Amino acid sequence: MRKVVWDMDPGVDDALALILALKSPEVQVLGVTTVAGNAPVEMTSANARRVLECLDAGSIPVAMGAANPSNHPLEDALSYHGPDGLGNCSLPSPLTPLYPAKAWDLLARLVLDAPGEVTLVATGSLTNVAYAFELHPELPELLAGLVLMGGAYSLTPYGKGNQTPFAEFNIWQDPEAAHIVFNSGADIFAVGLDVTMDPAACLNSQHLEQIKTRHTPTAHLAAQLVEYEVKCHGCCRMHDPLALATLLDASLLDFILERVEVVKGNGWDRGVTRILSSGSSQLIHVASAVDGPRFLKLFLSRILEE
Ligand code: RIB
Ligand code: CA
Repeated sequence: MRKVVWDMDPGVDDALALILALKSPEVQVLGVTTVAGNAPVEMTSANARRVLECLDAGSIPVAMGAANPSNHPLEDALSYHGPDGLGNCSLPSPLTPLYPAKAWDLLARLVLDAPGEVTLVATGSLTNVAYAFELHPELPELLAGLVLMGGAYSLTPYGKGNQTPFAEFNIWQDPEAAHIVFNSGADIFAVGLDVTMDPAACLNSQHLEQIKTRHTPTAHLAAQLVEYEVKCHGCCRMHDPLALATLLDASLLDFILERVEVVKGNGWDRGVTRILSSGSSQLIHVASAVDGPRFLKLFLSRILEE
């Protein structure tokens, strides 16, 4: 059982990843923190609680974090995820109040209470994580690991940008924060577009029909989320569920150890994650391959169970 604290920007795929985690015995979600990204932070904070409450997990604390990237104005992705950030699903507004602390304080508290035991999962921009590391420099070494969805490393034909032709959305949103995190000393597993954009790892309309055969609250919510993506974008990209799946079955993805440069600033190469052949950058594990069919089989088996 891996203890997890999770910084996210729900967002349809963050929500699908959270549902997967809540239906998986391999992980225990101790807390959720939210960051602006796919949607403004008030909305991502509401969406995290909407999903948790739907799955009777409203007791998991949710703490709100940064409303903007550290060095750039927010550019949300509501045009992709729908006006409510969750595919216009029918979930009611949350009843649970926010945890009475900022995201970086909850992240730090949960890790410091269990040194070496907690894995940080990050599926949004890294603004909150970088700030937590700056406030508590001892934090990276006290993590059991850091699994993040972010970057595009040119390791496969899919390893190109999705916010610009060169940069992935989470890293592009706050490259300064990503630079801090990528050089923090944490044991980082980066799951990038190289594997998450593999068509074999995306849900399609046939998968949607399978999900629709189940009439549980979990399957009903998953069906709404997937249906929005399939109808609007032709398929449902599983960026964040793939990052979480690393903790469920380590054999699903291959990783290589590389030095990675994150390009800061606001030029054409903002947010580029470039693998370096040498240099002083920290070594991080970068996802280089995925068993898409086996990942989707695992996802569906968890979503469809009673
Ligand atoms: O580039 C994809 C990533 O950006 C995913 O985490 C998605 O939810 C958005 O945050
Ligand atoms: Ca996300």
